[in-house]
Amino acid sequence: MSEQHENLLKQFQTEMEAAKTTADVEALRVKYLGKKGEVTELLKGLGKLSIEERKATGAAINQIKTKIQSSIEESMKKLALQELDAKLKAEKPDHSMPGTYPNIGSLHPVTQVANEVINIFQAMGFFLTEGPEIEEEYYNFEALNVPKHHPARDMQDTFYLESDQVLRTQTSPMQVRTMEKIEPPLKMIALGKVYRCDYDITHSPMFHQMEGLVVGENISMSDLKGTLIAFVKEMFGKRAYRFRTSYFPFTEPSAEMDIQCIFCEGKGCKVCKGTGWMEILGCGMVNPKVFEAVKYDTEKYTGFAFGMGIERIAMLRYGINDIRLLFNSDTRFLKQF
Ligand code: DAH
Repeated sequence: MSEQHENLLKQFQTEMEAAKTTADVEALRVKYLGKKGEVTELLKGLGKLSIEERKATGAAINQIKTKIQSSIEESMKKLALQELDAKLKAEKPDHSMPGTYPNIGSLHPVTQVANEVINIFQAMGFFLTEGPEIEEEYYNFEALNVPKHHPARDMQDTFYLESDQVLRTQTSPMQVRTMEKIEPPLKMIALGKVYRCDYDITHSPMFHQMEGLVVGENISMSDLKGTLIAFVKEMFGKRAYRFRTSYFPFTEPSAEMDIQCIFCEGKGCKVCKGTGWMEILGCGMVNPKVFEAVKYDTEKYTGFAFGMGIERIAMLRYGINDIRLLFNSDTRFLKQF
């Protein structure tokens, strides 16, 4: 190593000893190993030497370079640790700062309303059941007096699957499935998801329905009315209600139940299309054809059935005007319940 090289190394070592921070060391790295650094300049000068000289000098410069490099790396590590240590020591926790609280979840409004509806009917002696969302066409339609090509199939835009299966369009098939298993008398409700090819501010391709069925001897229309009026009073308080004649293939006679519009209190507005009323459920006396499908004695037994959309009940209960709010998972909306 020439004197020049030795001096350079000494100079570096002195300066390194004086370096107190990682910034100082970084400055040294630039000064010696940077693009225009002193060692780099020496290497550039090699080109002017003869081949013989170049070998020896090159090796010497590289030796210096390696030494400087490892020295820089080592003190970088050491100083970085020291600096972190000092920083952590200087940080004092402020015990007066507000803490972070975990976000506590709550039941979805649809679940809350479903639970309320279930409770009301269970208190009246109904048992709760559930069944498949992928349903056989037979249960979703045929057994409910909706044969193939019956116009009532158009009332419900069906998602058809392969081999005579559908995504159930209603929970009514649970009437048939239950009656196949149980002899009367019975009082059942069934809750679950249903699917229809429909999407706007009041329709969602998936929504929840609750079905109800009562079968026994001497069950009459007044039992139907008494039961559903008791439900509406529990669910909507003093709000006015009415029964209106309707049509469903699986009930005869059929009706729909309305409550007074929650937005205009019956005066008539856009939401209730000026009628002052809003539909909340369908119902009726079980059509004997449905009893025939499950081999119930139609001379001995009568019954009533009803079905309601849970999202619709939730919307009326809370004054929600767009069903999509219930499915967007926007916590600003959900936190209100
Ligand atoms: N399944 C009907 C629908 O989805 C609702 C319904 C109406 C159910 C009358 C019933 C009933 O059990 O008796 O529109």
